[in-house]
Amino acid sequence: MSDFTSNFWSIFISVITIGGILACLALLWISGKTKAMTLSDNTTGHVWDEDLREMNNPLPRWWVGLFIITVVFSLVYLYLYPGLGTYEGSLKWSQTGQFDREVSRGNEQAAPIYAAFSGMSTEALAKDAKAMAIGDRLFMNNCAQCHGSDARGGKGFPNLADGDWMWGGTPDKIHETIASGRTGVMPPMAAAVGSPEDVRNLAHYVLSLSSSPNDSVRSNLGKSKFTVCAACHGADGKGNQALGAPNLTDNIWVDGAGVESHIVSMINNGKTNVMPAWSSKFTPEQMNVLTAYVWGLGGGVRNPAPAPVAVAPVETASK
Ligand code: HEC
Ligand code: HEC
Repeated sequence: MSDFTSNFWSIFISVITIGGILACLALLWISGKTKAMTLSDNTTGHVWDEDLREMNNPLPRWWVGLFIITVVFSLVYLYLYPGLGTYEGSLKWSQTGQFDREVSRGNEQAAPIYAAFSGMSTEALAKDAKAMAIGDRLFMNNCAQCHGSDARGGKGFPNLADGDWMWGGTPDKIHETIASGRTGVMPPMAAAVGSPEDVRNLAHYVLSLSSSPNDSVRSNLGKSKFTVCAACHGADGKGNQALGAPNLTDNIWVDGAGVESHIVSMINNGKTNVMPAWSSKFTPEQMNVLTAYVWGLGGGVRNPAPAPVAVAPVETASK
């Protein structure tokens, strides 16, 4: 497949490549034909450093042979493999094709291992040592660069091993997070809050929610401003998992620390934080194992029992 709209570059590259190879051959042939002017002692007459002179010997035969072999090799190679513009090569090899073959071979080999886990609940998987060893490897290879090798996160990357969840800690929610990704959006809020002093006061009120060190005078002044935050963080500041708005009362901070400067900067600048989606990278079985691994790290919450089916009150015989 060509990334260009016309054939021009394909032809351009093919002509230069083939032309270059033929030019090499021509050079070899011409230099074999032409005789340099030689003196009687078989030197070219060039002299350096007083007495260094250049001999005029023909190229060694083994060297010419190797040269011709490389030319033939490159022509055969260019016939078999893609190299000439958009020509695919007679073997139809491509890097994506090779990658896909290797991935599907790997998945085939792994299928019997994962088959043993099919139909197991997240709770059961989390207790299965073999499944968790696999989950650990999947996590180290794909998640640890952001969430840390102990899954305890870092600034901007939530801790997955505690019971504090931005998006929910039930198997269903964790699965949804991993499969589809999440985007947490907090807009800049300073304009809605008021003056820079109002923002500082509100920041102290937010700190007071988690009993973090705060100035109680400022905190009292800022309290009323929290109404603009309540839409997402809840009137009590305990957050909203449907929006990924974190609990502000638990003294667990995803984006910084429980200090005035952090809260003020969140209010002034807002933040957009992205957890990538993985459903196209993992097989459904791998997704289940990873979900159980994260769920089993320590903070997992059980799925809620299905809501009881409302039963219409039985009509008692009317009087
Ligand atoms: C590129 C960095 C990055 C990678 C890689 C990544 N994550 Fe995340 N993840 C994030 C960010 C950022 C968030 C927080 C999103 C937000 O602020 O709303 C997050 C959130 C989460 C959450 C939700 C936590 C909560 O409190 O609700 C889970 C679960 C999660 N990630 C699991 C994983 C797993 C499993 C993997 C590996 C398959 C992974 N992540 C790979 C960046 C990443
Ligand atoms: C539109 C919804 C929304 C509104 C309104 C909102 N926030 Fe947020 N807030 C979020 C989200 C989502 C995050 C998580 C950002 C992330 O994914 O990292 C967040 C994060 C925060 C954090 C960082 C928490 C941490 O753990 O580090 C603070 C502090 C905060 N908000 C304070 C406020 C204050 C104060 C207001 C009111 C002025 C406010 N927010 C209004 C959605 C909102």
